[in-house]
Amino acid sequence: MDMFRANIRDALEKPVVMVGLMGAGKTKIGSLLAKALGLPFIDADDEIEKAAKLTIAQIFEEHGEPAFRDLERAVMARLLSGKKCVIATGGGAVMNEQTASLIWEQSLSVWLKAGLDILVERTGRSNKRPLLHNGDPHEILGALMDKRYPFYAQSDVMIETDHAKPGVTLKRLLNALAAHLDIKEQP
Ligand code: S3P
Repeated sequence: MDMFRANIRDALEKPVVMVGLMGAGKTKIGSLLAKALGLPFIDADDEIEKAAKLTIAQIFEEHGEPAFRDLERAVMARLLSGKKCVIATGGGAVMNEQTASLIWEQSLSVWLKAGLDILVERTGRSNKRPLLHNGDPHEILGALMDKRYPFYAQSDVMIETDHAKPGVTLKRLLNALAAHLDIKEQP
């Protein structure tokens, strides 16, 4: 690992938490960041599924969204009290007051922001998101943008992903983390 990345990793005092809407790339970019820094990567949605022994869609269907948010809070509390790592959250995590407080206080938060058309395109590739099952994804994601952006905006760092390749977004993210942590950028 080069000095620049090692300096970022060493300066981190808390886990890095990726937030943002469904399809923004939290899992993809979060796992690339973890690899770049030599840290473990954890996907909170996967941890919720393991804990419940159900898929996210099943949890929503059989127990409802409030039960899912409770599980999400418990999983995030556990992950944030563990070792330094990179965590991808589900897009609604910051909408629960307690989960949001945990994230703002106990992590270095990164908002990944992408345009509506990109979110619609990426989320359309799978059927695993219950909030997009009943209605037009373009409208639903547009409404979620209006509702959630003020919350995501409380993150420590914001990165626009637009149409950039993952490697380019990773570079932007490393530079933004370095700036936040007061580390000199690579020449
Ligand atoms: C949700 C986002 C999903 C998942 C659940 C609810 C949301 O995660 O947690 O379907 O409320 O935005 P991704 O953002 O990883 O798709």
